[in-house]
Amino acid sequence: MAEKRAQFGTKIGVLMATVGSAVGLGNIWRFPYECGNGGGAAFLVVYIAFVFLLGVPAICAEFSLGRSSRKGMPLSFRVTDGSRRWDILGYASIIAAFMILAFYAVVAGWTLEYIMDSVTGLFKDTPNSDRHAQFASFVSGWRAVGWALLFLLINALVMTGGVVKGIERVSNILTPLLFLLLIVFSVNSLLMPGAAQGLEFMFKPDFSKLTTEVVLGALGQAFFSLSLGMGCLVTYSSYFSDDTPLVKTAMQISVLDTLVAVMAGVIIFPAVFSFGMSPAEGPTLVFEVLPNIFHNMPGGSFWSFLFFVLLALASLTSIISVSEIVVAFLCDCFGMTRIKATCIVTGISLVTATLCSLSFGSLAELNLFNIFDFLSSNVLLPLGGMGLCVFVGWRMKRSAYLEQMKRESGVPAFVFDYITIGIRFVAPACILTVFIAGLL
Ligand code: TRP
Repeated sequence: MAEKRAQFGTKIGVLMATVGSAVGLGNIWRFPYECGNGGGAAFLVVYIAFVFLLGVPAICAEFSLGRSSRKGMPLSFRVTDGSRRWDILGYASIIAAFMILAFYAVVAGWTLEYIMDSVTGLFKDTPNSDRHAQFASFVSGWRAVGWALLFLLINALVMTGGVVKGIERVSNILTPLLFLLLIVFSVNSLLMPGAAQGLEFMFKPDFSKLTTEVVLGALGQAFFSLSLGMGCLVTYSSYFSDDTPLVKTAMQISVLDTLVAVMAGVIIFPAVFSFGMSPAEGPTLVFEVLPNIFHNMPGGSFWSFLFFVLLALASLTSIISVSEIVVAFLCDCFGMTRIKATCIVTGISLVTATLCSLSFGSLAELNLFNIFDFLSSNVLLPLGGMGLCVFVGWRMKRSAYLEQMKRESGVPAFVFDYITIGIRFVAPACILTVFIAGLL
């Protein structure tokens, strides 16, 4: 007899697990650097439009597919369609998951280093003028590799140790705490001398800065930050109970996730201008700006310790959700035990994460870090998301996915129209347009 599929215990547990997956380095590390590269406010406007125009319908599509099939990748396609024709989407997801695991572990490793640095008082003792050189020397070395590997091992421990429940409980407390802390830091940044310039950069759009590249960046960032496009939410929703409200959850995730990203921007950009740095610094931006902020803040070591512990945990709940896609795949398709599946995923990731980390040092020529970051977020996730929307909107029976969503009360009828139109037309058309424009 088939084993009964696990289910989330409570409604708040569902919200915390999905928000825990969405809120992570994508909001606090990736959003500010992408927004900085994309010229600030213009990027933000396009980003928010993508979140609500495409993101919310696409989340609902993933949820309906996952809960109706009660399967992850690629089996959800197989059981729904009765054929193997859509498997390719599932396999692309697995590849994307491995790429994300590799570079995500590297950045998460940086947060572990910063926890240590907060304890030893390094931020306090190093003048801001030395920050760039100090960080450059850290990321280029083996120490950074060590932290990335440690993070992957912690992830493996959580995945196999059945502590997921514990993590769920802990993040019920920590996610709200991270929120509070972000508010404190936002206020702190708003009081800085460069605040006005930073806010203008972030909120006063100059649409002449919009290039196809920026639009593609915003699209990729929306998918990355919402954990969309590679079946992460299909897998999670296969554990939902029958009465979990899909549309409401999709809305809550999108609003909370966007709020965290905007707060990260409000913290970073005033500081960037205040310290005379460049907003288009790239992936290292946040890790050079934040220590400067803490250096100048009263009680900086305490605040930075608290912040990086919370950020490391937020990253852990996100990386768990990425690993879960592959682990669920190996267990469902090959009948492996969770332990064996986790060992395989971790073994491969240890190698790829090392290569990504060394992209800041001896492997800078190859720069696998940037390649994985770009390929997964800007190519595989949007294309995967498009495939998912086309599948749910056109292959799955309309009554089947609407039935999933309509199992909740208090949602006005037009919302279902907005989601259906989004899944069938808006999301596929927008993604296709952005890609064709990108190719030209
Ligand atoms: N959304 C997470 C973040 O912002 C990263 C993440 C977790 C993710 N699961 C995912 C990205 C699935 C894409 C797909 O940090």
